[in-house]
Amino acid sequence: MLGILTSLLIAPFLVNRVAAHGAVTSYRINDEVFPGYNAYDPPDGQVSIARPYYGIDPIFDVLNETIACNNDGGPIGPEGKQLSANIRAGDTITAIYGLWLHPFGPATVYMARCPGACIESNSRDLEWFKINHTGLIDGDIVYGHWGIAIVSTTGEYSAKVPEELAAGEYLIRNELIAIHPPSTGPQHYVECAQLKVFREPGSGPGKLPPSSFLTKFPGAYNPSDPGLNVNLYTPEAPTVTTYQIPGPAVWDGQDEEDELRLAESIRNVSRW
Ligand SMILES: *[C@@H]1O[C@H](CO)[C@@H](O)[C@H](O)[C@H]1NC(C)=O
Ligand SMILES: *[C@@H]1O[C@H](CO)[C@@H](O)[C@H](O)[C@H]1NC(C)=O
Ligand SMILES: *[C@@H]1O[C@H](CO)[C@@H](O)[C@H](O)[C@H]1NC(C)=O
Repeated sequence: MLGILTSLLIAPFLVNRVAAHGAVTSYRINDEVFPGYNAYDPPDGQVSIARPYYGIDPIFDVLNETIACNNDGGPIGPEGKQLSANIRAGDTITAIYGLWLHPFGPATVYMARCPGACIESNSRDLEWFKINHTGLIDGDIVYGHWGIAIVSTTGEYSAKVPEELAAGEYLIRNELIAIHPPSTGPQHYVECAQLKVFREPGSGPGKLPPSSFLTKFPGAYNPSDPGLNVNLYTPEAPTVTTYQIPGPAVWDGQDEEDELRLAESIRNVSRW
């Protein structure tokens, strides 16, 4: 099914640049649905966990000041009421999209700890870590399956909040990167929402990612990143079967210290 869909879509996509923009319209945690932001209604009066965003149009320049959350960095205001969704560390949050048609490119999900309340934080000031990404799933870059095709076939994209993450307030940032011809470059579709992470009683305090996993927006990407310079329109493209997703490595809660401790305990055991 996926294969047929992709081959049906591929010809028109390679020929025309269909204006097929999109955005997160709501979120789901366990079975609860949280309405998103509506960019085409005035922000005043909107009550949502989603940060406001400028619209469903993409961001082209990875150094654009708006790339953190597709806005000026602030929450819904001044009349709107910004909410946060509670989520247990280890649970999954699903971003639900409106119409989404682009099949080529990676899906990425980041989080950032707000130093105090997220309602008072500007997303440009925060340090982000990646919690999930999906690049090229299989096949080659033209006829294979990509992370953002999960969205074009299911309408949603899910990511797990790391089980080890410390309790506190966070922003979550969903980004779909749609690969386009080199003349325009990739299109970045970004939306953010506010979360309050809590931990299961007795599961310990959790932790934050080490600094090697942290990045800023703008800053996480460079226009010269290999993953932002893929050309689907060359004769060789159907022979390319690797893809390097831009941005830092995914932090899954298993940081280097843990690995060192594990290595040490294995050494201790083998000593015995
Ligand atoms: C930055 O992105 C916004 C949309 O988020 C767009 O309106 C603006 O023109 C872009 N600025 C530059 C310098 O590309
Ligand atoms: C990202 O989430 C998808 C489901 O949305 C899952 O299939 C994939 O394994 C996850 N990848 C990472 C690196 O966590
Ligand atoms: C390994 O053994 C050393 C020396 O006995 C001990 O100090 C250390 O705590 C042990 N480490 C682990 C992870 O068990």
